[in-house]
Amino acid sequence: MKKILVTGALGQIGTELVRELRLKYGHDNVIASDKNLSDTQKIKALEPFEYADVTNAEELNTIIERHNIDSVFHLAAILSAVGERNPMQCWNVNMTGTLNILEIGVAKKLNRIIIPSSMAVWGDGVSKDMTPQESVLRPTTMYGLTKVCGERLCDYYFLKYGLDTRGLRYPGIISSETLPGGGTTDYAVDIFYKAVKDEDYSCFLSEGTMLPMMYMPDCLKATIDLAEADVSRLQHHSDFNVASFSFNPAQLTKAIQKHKPDFKVVYEPDFRQSIADSWPRTIDDSAARAEWGWQPAYSFEDMVTDMLNKLSQKLK
Ligand code: NAD
Ligand code: SER
Repeated sequence: MKKILVTGALGQIGTELVRELRLKYGHDNVIASDKNLSDTQKIKALEPFEYADVTNAEELNTIIERHNIDSVFHLAAILSAVGERNPMQCWNVNMTGTLNILEIGVAKKLNRIIIPSSMAVWGDGVSKDMTPQESVLRPTTMYGLTKVCGERLCDYYFLKYGLDTRGLRYPGIISSETLPGGGTTDYAVDIFYKAVKDEDYSCFLSEGTMLPMMYMPDCLKATIDLAEADVSRLQHHSDFNVASFSFNPAQLTKAIQKHKPDFKVVYEPDFRQSIADSWPRTIDDSAARAEWGWQPAYSFEDMVTDMLNKLSQKLK
């Protein structure tokens, strides 16, 4: 990987992944791109930056040629909650975008393509505790459907064309820099902003809804470690389970109250409850551990302390 394109670079993960990749591969060797041009300050801070709508193959092709790109981290996507409000947009961005990147990957003989998947690939018919690597994939959301198709497409391009595609099934990602972009796990970030501002929080999931989660530094480490892994050790490619810790809103509230005793949460579940109920509580990530040495660094308590410290600094 010498010249890297990150699509969806203005999103929750992209913003921080671009910075991390630049530390490793050199500032000018990582090109950020996104469709959203509303935050000009943020775009300036992420330069070199290119406008690209991933549903437009020509635009992507031009950027990849202009910068002599050899590897792509394809993060542009519509997440679960926004996807349920607009399923066709979700299908279009997630599937057309993925196919465009894969087709260009073959045509330009790209070195590596990383496309994240999600715990949203799961639904009915699978154990929700320690959900195994090899399992039935029957998602109940359009987002989940696109993630299953994305995984299968990536493996198809690997087998048929030898295109080196890789991906992880992220759990909910928690971070302090960029707000999440419309998923079902967003509560686990929003709640910290309210706590730090000494405001009450209305949670859109019920207090006992346990979900797998991961702190951003571990998400970045997992993504880059998989991208750099020796391909000869990989038996899986685009569908690695990765896990860190799991908690429910009541447990998170209690952990925050250790630092902020007056913090209060009320529970007002909405349409996102049924999405969360269709996902696992805990995930078995032994394949990732065996094939590329995955090992998270942050515990639940570490994450809570670090989030509160970072947001207190940011919001003061
Ligand atoms: P996000 O919603 O925060 O960011 C997505 C970015 O894609 C946004 O900046 C948006 O402007 C951009 N985008 C949307 N449509 C586009 C288009 N047509 N062309 C170009 N850009 C477009 O998402 P994220 O949380 O950073 O997620 C990145 C990847 O990780 C996605 O594939 C997502 O499914 C996956 N993932 C994320 C989580 C999580 O908790 N954040 C969990 C599981 C999987
Ligand atoms: N965090 C993501 C979402 O809630 C999971 O893929 O949509």
